[in-house]
Amino acid sequence: MDFELKSLTAAQVAQLPVDALLVLVPDTPPTTKSADQALTRLVAQAVEHKDLENGVAKLLACYRPEGFKASRVTLVRVGDGSAASVRKAVTAGMGSLKQPGIQKLALVFSLIEATDDGVRAAMQACADATYCYTTTKPSAKARTVKQVVVGVAKAGDVQRGFEVGKAQVVGVEFAKEWANRPANHATPTMLGEAARKLGRKPGMKTDVLGPKQVEALGMGSFLSVARGSVEPLRFIVMHYNGGAKGSAPVVLVGKGITFDTGGISIKPAADMDEMKFDMGGAASVLGTFAALAELKPAINVVGLIPSCENMPDGQAVKPGDVVTSMSGQTIEILNTDAEGRLILCDALTYAERFKPRAVVDVATLTGACMIALGSVRSGLFASTEELANQLMAAGEAAQDLCWRLPLDDDYADGLKTNFADVANVAGRAGGAITAAKFLQRFASKYPWAHLDIAGSAWKSGAAKGATGRPVGLLLDFLLASQASKPAATKTRQRRAA
Ligand code: BES
Ligand code: MN
Ligand code: ZN
Repeated sequence: MDFELKSLTAAQVAQLPVDALLVLVPDTPPTTKSADQALTRLVAQAVEHKDLENGVAKLLACYRPEGFKASRVTLVRVGDGSAASVRKAVTAGMGSLKQPGIQKLALVFSLIEATDDGVRAAMQACADATYCYTTTKPSAKARTVKQVVVGVAKAGDVQRGFEVGKAQVVGVEFAKEWANRPANHATPTMLGEAARKLGRKPGMKTDVLGPKQVEALGMGSFLSVARGSVEPLRFIVMHYNGGAKGSAPVVLVGKGITFDTGGISIKPAADMDEMKFDMGGAASVLGTFAALAELKPAINVVGLIPSCENMPDGQAVKPGDVVTSMSGQTIEILNTDAEGRLILCDALTYAERFKPRAVVDVATLTGACMIALGSVRSGLFASTEELANQLMAAGEAAQDLCWRLPLDDDYADGLKTNFADVANVAGRAGGAITAAKFLQRFASKYPWAHLDIAGSAWKSGAAKGATGRPVGLLLDFLLASQASKPAATKTRQRRAA
């Protein structure tokens, strides 16, 4: 999909040669009724006759309205114009513009005050509404909307939001593609190849390690999960170097279980197919790197993806087995279905070598997190207030929300065992938190955060599929960390002067 940013006055909107207009209308729209103002006239009349109600996402779909070049014009209310309202409004508006004849579309901000976050939210909502997975369903109708004009009063005011929006859409679609693929079309080897391909872009580098190298590193915990599968594991190490040499990177770690049967602690048959999404964390890390390749910000980022299948087999790890992690800590595997933490813990230890500014792991880790937060917000855990605040703010800005959950040490009591340093599961209570407490044991050497995306990475039901989250959140978090750096440099220069 091609996006284009254009300065457009309300009067110019009617002359835009597109197939459809989606016009964002504020609570109190301009009321000019002059003849050359087809748009303000249409809005004023719609409001006057109560055909366009007040309230976010209330809409009126018009066909061939007088004075417009576009044959479909949808007016949609955006309330206060916040990014959240814009997202809701565009999602609703796109629902009224599904005709296959619409190839060129305009998102019109000319009646409201456009913001960077609002423009980005509109672009993402538009992309989400027109996305179509086709890789293993070539008969599906691919996206018909090819070109999207973002029309705002002054293009210069939101240039940055527009650029970030374009990159975010690329990243989200990359993540959706890989998460949506069935497990036989997204093996650890294939994920490694996708990462390698990304690694050929400027500023990028990818190393893909196999079983022998992972064994040499001493990742006994990761290896134990992969043992039940004939698919060889992969440990993907990606570098994006846009910042100064030697400037400490942010490390992103993504859970890459390409299929989770539960292993010997096997899952019930119903809905087990959904466990192809268990590499959603990995997909979001790959997607974030795809977005970085577009934006080329001045930061350094490392991406780590431990990837394997979790399968039952004669070779598979058994409940009660004790394995030794790369950190040296021994782990009693009481439930082989709690495998995400077993592959992540070794990646968290590996992350130490980069002397990172912060490490953020992303994982479809627990059903418990889904029960706690549903699909609206991802679960957030953080070892420092600063990191928690930054990730919360990034979620708000990108409209990719998360919510902080606690890490009190008392939650770790259930992980105690007589047979190893730590068990891989506690009781059922507080399952998202006890999983985070397990991970925290391996992340003591740097500021660390964990995002549990079990509820937010994919949707079930009729709209079954990957959401591409939390690419928006991660991208915003990384870009904000770049913005804070030049400021620090300036202060230092001023002091030196
Ligand atoms: N991949 C699952 C978590 C999951 C469940 C994600 C449902 C999305 C939807 C994870 O590996 C898992 O099986 N977790 C167990 C942990 C339990 C055994 C302590 C769970 O949540 O039931
Ligand atoms: Mn599992
Ligand atoms: Zn899993």
